[in-house]
This record gives sequence, C-alpha cells and structure tokens, in this order.
Amino acid sequence: MNKITLPEKSKLLNSQFVFGVATSSFQIEGAPESRQKSIWDTFCETPGKIEDGSHGLVACEHVKYWKEDIELIQQLGVDAYRFSISWPRVIQDDGELNPEGVAFYMDLLDALIAKGIKPFVTLYHWDLPQNIENNGGWLNRETAYLFQDYVDKITTVFGDKVHAYATFNEPFCSAYLGYEIGVHAPGKTGRASGRQAAHHILLAHGLGMQVLRKNSPNSLNGIVLNFTPCYPADDSPESVKATDYANQYINHWYIKPLFHGQYPDMLSELPNFHKPDIEKDDMAIISQPMDFLGVNFYTRLTYSAPTKAGEFYTEHEHLYPRTDIGWEIYPQALTDLLTTLLADYDLPPIYITENGAAMADKMVDGVVQDDDRIEYYQSHLLALHAAMEQGVDVAGYFAWSLMDNFEWAEGYLKRFGLVYVDYTTQTRTLKNSALAYQALLNTKQEKQNRQEK
Ligand code: GCO
Repeated sequence: MNKITLPEKSKLLNSQFVFGVATSSFQIEGAPESRQKSIWDTFCETPGKIEDGSHGLVACEHVKYWKEDIELIQQLGVDAYRFSISWPRVIQDDGELNPEGVAFYMDLLDALIAKGIKPFVTLYHWDLPQNIENNGGWLNRETAYLFQDYVDKITTVFGDKVHAYATFNEPFCSAYLGYEIGVHAPGKTGRASGRQAAHHILLAHGLGMQVLRKNSPNSLNGIVLNFTPCYPADDSPESVKATDYANQYINHWYIKPLFHGQYPDMLSELPNFHKPDIEKDDMAIISQPMDFLGVNFYTRLTYSAPTKAGEFYTEHEHLYPRTDIGWEIYPQALTDLLTTLLADYDLPPIYITENGAAMADKMVDGVVQDDDRIEYYQSHLLALHAAMEQGVDVAGYFAWSLMDNFEWAEGYLKRFGLVYVDYTTQTRTLKNSALAYQALLNTKQEKQNRQEK
C-alpha cells in the first residue's frame, strides 16, 4: 500500500478540516543545558526504567534543528503543528520566566505563523520540573497552583499567537502510569497516589483554563485525553461487568469530571483510603466549558472478571494484529469510541490530537517502505470518517508523530514517525508514509482549489 484515500465527499476533505502532525518537548528537544531538570531526566537516570537504557538529553536535537524541522512540517503540507512547551525550559527554579526558553518558543511560533501553520500548544506533556516533584509533585495540591502560575506567565507572553492551547496531554498517563503503576516518571506506585495525582492534575487543568480564558480568549482552549476503548473478552455477564469497571477507571475517570463535574460511580466502591481528597469547589473548577476536546487514540483492550480480591477487572494481552509496540490494530474502536462519547457527553468540537503506529522500520537505500504504517493511517482515517458520518463533530486530525523520537519507557526502540531519524547523524528522511500523508493533503488542497474557482 502506498496511498491514503478518502471518499470524495468525506468531511475530512473539507477546507476547514485541520490536518497536522504532533510532537512533545521531552521527546524531541534535547538541549538540557538550557533548562531545569525534569522528572523524566531523573527517571531516565534510574537503572532499569528505560528499555534501552537511553535518555532524552539528546533526542532529536530539535532545539538545534528546529528550523529544518519546520521546513519538513511545511513540506508535508499540513495545516497545523501540535507541540508542547517544556515547563522546565520556560520557568527557572525560582519560578520566574527563563528568557532563553521563552525566546526559543517565540521564534518557533513566529516561524510557524509566517508559514501559515497553526500552532497547537500543549502546556504539559509530562516533563514536570524535578524541583516541584521534590515537594511531592502531583501528590501535592500546591502543584496545581504552580501550574496555574506557569500557565499565567507563559500565556501572558504568547497570548493568541497560539491557535489552540491544551492544558494537559493525557492525564491518565501522568497519573496512572506515573503515580499508580510506576512505569513512567516519577515511578510512584499505589492506587491512592494514582487517584490523588489524577485529581490534582484535573484541578490544575481547571485552574489553567481560568487563566487561559483571561489571557488568551481568542485561542481555542481545551485539554487532550487519551482513550483506550474497553471490550469484554467474552459475552459472560462477569466480563461485561469487569469491562464497565475498566472503562470507568481508565477512560471516564478523566472525562466525566470535565463534562459532568463528577467522578464515575465507581468512586464510591473504592475503599476510603484509596479515594482522592476533593475540596468543596474542586469539581466546579474542573468542569468549566472548553472550546475543544483533544482525543488521542491508538488501540483497544479486552477484559474479564478480576482474579484477585480488591480488584475490579483483569486486563488481557493485546490481541493481533499488533504494531511494533505490541498494541492491537483495531480501527473500529475509534468509530465506537467517538460515537459513544457523542451519546454520553455534550462535547465541544473534537480534534484527534494523536493517532499513529510504531512499526519496525528499515531504511534501505534511503527509502523507508512503511506500508504497514500507511495501512494503519488509511484504516483509522476511514474509521474517523465513519464516526463523522454518524454525527460526531471532528474538526481536525494529527498524526503521531512528525518524526521518530524518544518513546518514553521504550527509549529509542520504537519508531512512530512519518519522518525517519538517524540518531547518530540527526538526518531526517521522509518515510513512504510521510509521502502518502503529503499526497492526501495535496488531494485536499486540489479539491479546495477546484471549489474556489
Ligand atoms: C502518548 C503521548 C506520546 C506518545 C505516543 C506513543 O500518547 O503516550 O502523547 O507522547 O509518544 O502516544 O506512545
């Protein structure tokens, strides 16, 4: 397969529909000398945490090569670029702005705007300053207010140069992976700490939204959540019940507070010592209106009844076919997810802020023939098209990722990029999937030109 095609009449080909590519600060930037240390630096220094023993100190050296990287983004023909601001790069350890860090992102924003590429900024993509973690990180309520202060300072400077601000990327990952099962930074464990971190992150989101509305009312302001749709492993009532618990615990835990101002019912079934401390006005702060919801989608999971006391479900291994990171390829779950969200919540427009696949890419004679990745994009864009046909309001789609980068606990072993990165020379090469994405965007542009005639 070397092409991505959509039905001629697909809403994805409408001129207002935004196509983009996405990255995040710690995964691409490098240049640790000009920023504070983050929890991910510390995590990488801890033996055994990163699969290949690597770190983010160099990554794609994007701070050095950002101009070339923007050229690449432009070459792809996308409408938008989603990237994150590194809190430890723009705020110094005394809490004041770091002029060098601010200038880096200012130049990036100006260059994107000059090229007509809409900047979609994530304010928190997991790189918490280590000095804040030293005081408890997301287990300390005070961190939510430090986040608000950081957002206030940075959005006062950037304002509506930014097309869309997301307060957080994937609170599930920060809270659950980072503070509950410990496979991500800062590597803490326990249900009580996972739930408390989640609550403080959601509170920080609400506090951040208040500041965004004030400082940048003309930007689209919202949040990015990841969803892994849950399916029963079989038809038994036990599996169906377990699946409902899993869905509440990993998906609705993060969206329901935002749109309904409350946690899923399952909260009441947790023992008191696992429940987060929730103060009186918290849920009102968390559930403010938003301009958009970002949805990250990669895969689904299957569940059956728990086998241990105190648990709610058993999560199964991913089924096949799988990507190189071991995640099942199941595009129907994207359609199911979006149509279910439409039924359950009164949502603002959705942007698919991440979707993509790690594949075992091989570069041969300067070519990466990643047909498997092209097929992944093809099937998921059709699944998105199907959801839109069923009434889901989706305003844009971002491929994860612009280029291969530091894939967290997997280090550099997993490649998600449209662009291949040779980490020894920092050479970037468009994979065949990048060419297919580019061709799709060309088709969209041509359609637009025909209509304007
Ligand atoms: C996430 C993050 C990205 C990842 C990507 C692949 O969704 O986990 O936003 O930083 O790299 O999702 O795992």
